[in-house]
Amino acid sequence: MCGIVGYVGGQQAAPLLTEGLARLEHRGYDSAGVAVVGSKVRVVKRAGRVNDLVEAMPQRIAGRTGIGHTRWATHGPASDVNAHPHTDTAGTVAVVHNGILDNAATLRRRLEDAGVELASDTDTEVIAHLVGRSGAETLEGKVVEALAAIEGTYGLAVVHADFPDRVVVARNGSPLLVGVGEKEMFVASDLAALVRHTTTVAHLDDGELATITASGFTTFRADLTRTETAAHEVDVDPSAYEHGATGAEPRMYTEMLEQPASVERTLRGRLDERFGTAHLGGLGMDARELRAVQRVKILGCGSAYYAGQMGAQLIEELARVPADAEAASEFRYRDAVIDPDTLYVAVSQSGETVDTLLAVEEIRRKGGRVVGLVNVVGSAIARACDGGIYLHAGPETAVASTKAVTTMFVGFALLALQLGRVRDLSVADGKRLVAGLLRLPAQIEETLAGEERLAGIAKTLAQAESMFFVGRVRGYPVAREGAQKLKEISYRHAEAYQMSELKHGPLALISPAVPTVAVVPDDELADRNIGALHEIAARGGPLVVVTHDGVDLGELTAERIDVPRNEKELDPLLLTIPLQLVAYHAALTLGHDVDRPRNLAKSVTVE
Ligand code: F6R
Repeated sequence: MCGIVGYVGGQQAAPLLTEGLARLEHRGYDSAGVAVVGSKVRVVKRAGRVNDLVEAMPQRIAGRTGIGHTRWATHGPASDVNAHPHTDTAGTVAVVHNGILDNAATLRRRLEDAGVELASDTDTEVIAHLVGRSGAETLEGKVVEALAAIEGTYGLAVVHADFPDRVVVARNGSPLLVGVGEKEMFVASDLAALVRHTTTVAHLDDGELATITASGFTTFRADLTRTETAAHEVDVDPSAYEHGATGAEPRMYTEMLEQPASVERTLRGRLDERFGTAHLGGLGMDARELRAVQRVKILGCGSAYYAGQMGAQLIEELARVPADAEAASEFRYRDAVIDPDTLYVAVSQSGETVDTLLAVEEIRRKGGRVVGLVNVVGSAIARACDGGIYLHAGPETAVASTKAVTTMFVGFALLALQLGRVRDLSVADGKRLVAGLLRLPAQIEETLAGEERLAGIAKTLAQAESMFFVGRVRGYPVAREGAQKLKEISYRHAEAYQMSELKHGPLALISPAVPTVAVVPDDELADRNIGALHEIAARGGPLVVVTHDGVDLGELTAERIDVPRNEKELDPLLLTIPLQLVAYHAALTLGHDVDRPRNLAKSVTVE
């Protein structure tokens, strides 16, 4: 949420900053701005998209040091004045900030009492004034003094007219990376903004600050003692990040189509066909430790949480270990009892979701063991866990998550398989599942090929103001994820329910105007599920049924979507794919920008 970029070096900063911001627009697209230090600090900022900022940019805004920001509003509406960077009264300091200051109201009052006129409604502006009013001699000292007054979370970058050779940055709960170039240095909140220039990066830790100049960077703590954070090469393919700046198709669409390849990458080198098992070296757990696990608790947010529910089901089925998933955003607030025999699994695409990160820290503080199922290598959650499984989905920058969700499912299947095979899962069942997993990429391809028909179904569904998504056991998290995708990008109301819970209340809402999308795999529950569909049909509710070829829907009138058959435990993945396409086409039908859904941004790094 919100994106930060910074530059110091031999080139003009402004074009580099706006190019970086364009690559971070998925982190927030309410407003954007840059500050460049030349003979003074010059700020250009606008409500709207990065393109609007570029158009508003004066021909020459000279300077080789600068910072930039793309905003997702937390304090104060999206407006020119609330856009970052924020400056002090004299205009000598400019600050960009991700995160939330908890004591902003108190600090604003204190500054106003001291005669400072605040220009914006934001919490960030107070930081600029605090830095500007500091009597410290160095920029580092001024920033440290300002930080001593603030409470809350931040990733921030500061420039100052009197120190034109540097950017000072600080991190507490909001990601920041330093990128090392040839006689030039970069800062960003996300690798996506750096990879075109460098893949040598340093991840700052919470409580750490850094100074970047053209010749290098130094890291230190608030007491100004140096830290040893070093830069390292990250193993990423810069071309995988290119879509953001150049792609013609929406990113969500490209990422959906990438799923056969991303699932293949998640599986690569991890399956053992001979023994019907998986090898997950990154977990850092041997067979004895895996056998000692008495329970599995999965924590994630939003779509990652739904993928976690699919994962819990897989683990119970394959490993016969009690498993459940919980929203990390709830777990972290309820003072949960941490059990030393439970394996906690944090699941996250970005690896930066603050609720999930804080849940991980709480579990570790109380002595629990947490492993991560994370996409972004080196992210905060990945680093905070005891071990983990990287998803290798490739960069996901669409706000609506697709390939991360399906690779999470595959990651859980690998974990379930390994946990199962050190217990009672037979070699025959292990081999059956390995073969099933290997069939998935081609079957995802086959499912995606049904797009045209799904687009037709989406067109009809998009006409309904409100709808249900229902499923049972394996199908329920699929229904939740289907409803989530539809809500996020089409803004239609979609409510997910367990199939049999409908008759305990919500059935009252069923009518010809309220369709139901039902997830009915060909498993041991198919007959029961079809029975529930009759209850909906009897009330005139239109039905769309995601199912398998051969499932007999009898005399039910329904649009059916058949997905390829695999092993029943792996059904949720293939059942999820058509629901992604339905949501996508419903949003297009309604004329929405699928990559910039209203009120949302990628990576929720604020509480
Ligand atoms: C939905 C979506 C969100 C994320 C959630 C967790 O399409 O993208 O619900 O799944 O914010 O994000 P990560 O996985 O980055 O922790």
